Amino acid sequence: MSDRPEMYEGVDELWLDGEFVDFEDAQVHVLTHGLHYGTGVFEGVRCYDTDDGPAIFRWEEHLERFYDSAKPYDMDIPFDPEEITDATVELIQREGLDSCYIRPIAFYGYGPLGLNPSDSDVQVAIGVWPWGAYLGEEALKEGVDVTISSWRKHASSQIPTNAKTTGAYINSVLASLEAKGNDYVEAIVLNKEGNVAEGPGENIFLVRDGELYTPGLAESILDGITRQSVIQIAEDLGYEVHDDATISRSELYTADELFFTGTAAEVTPIRSVDDNQIGEGTKGPITDEIQTTFFDILDEAPEEYDEWFKPV
Ligand SMILES: Cc1ncc(COP(=O)(O)O)c(C=O)c1O
Repeated sequence: MSDRPEMYEGVDELWLDGEFVDFEDAQVHVLTHGLHYGTGVFEGVRCYDTDDGPAIFRWEEHLERFYDSAKPYDMDIPFDPEEITDATVELIQREGLDSCYIRPIAFYGYGPLGLNPSDSDVQVAIGVWPWGAYLGEEALKEGVDVTISSWRKHASSQIPTNAKTTGAYINSVLASLEAKGNDYVEAIVLNKEGNVAEGPGENIFLVRDGELYTPGLAESILDGITRQSVIQIAEDLGYEVHDDATISRSELYTADELFFTGTAAEVTPIRSVDDNQIGEGTKGPITDEIQTTFFDILDEAPEEYDEWFKPV
């Protein structure tokens, strides 16, 4: 096996099909169904080092989405939510982590190759590792330069967009490669109708005249859990949030503020789109207020947001 990527340095164990296994032993067969046809579902979750100790952010919602993602693929995840929860909590404890990224995945495993996966066993793995800011610390402060991708997001009549399916992420990979190849930090992907969908791994919010807009669930987006959290935070701060918006491409260029949300990206301001400056070309004031509140909640795990945290 090639050298370990830096992000996994220090990882001792993963959880695979009911057992804690050494990092190097977490292997699957090359004839794994999910490897050939992308028949897997996964989650991306963060555990934060809060004032009350390590706690997983919105675990219940991520777990629910994990099981929901499996439904269109007739995939029976052979562990119940309590088992996945216990395994995850124990893995974080065994790795001695106060904060980390959590990656549960379920996939059709080794079995007869052919499109019908029903004769392949479903395998489940969980990995945890330390992870900082996805787009960098500076991105959180100053914002990122993004481009509109020439790749369109598939419609949910083609591949379910509210499921986190491994194979579907090839669309995000294409958009990311194109953006990075053109020296942008990230892409914005339009849906088949040409309206704004989301980033390759983020939802998007637009601020105009002091109100927030984010594409609705019918716009071919993932129902992001950070999106849901930010909607609640913004409303708690007294902002009007239009969470069922249709946003045209041209509205992006004239927005007062734009920002991404996601487990990886957290709340990341967007300072330009296709080299057009957004607002003052840095983090906007409403983005700043929401981002600050979001990070304060993650630090403090305050009582009013108690149900968002699962202690480890
Ligand atoms: C395509 C896509 N959209 C949006 C998001 C944000 O979702 P969440 O906030 O649940 O991480 C993600 C990240 O998982 C994603 O992959």
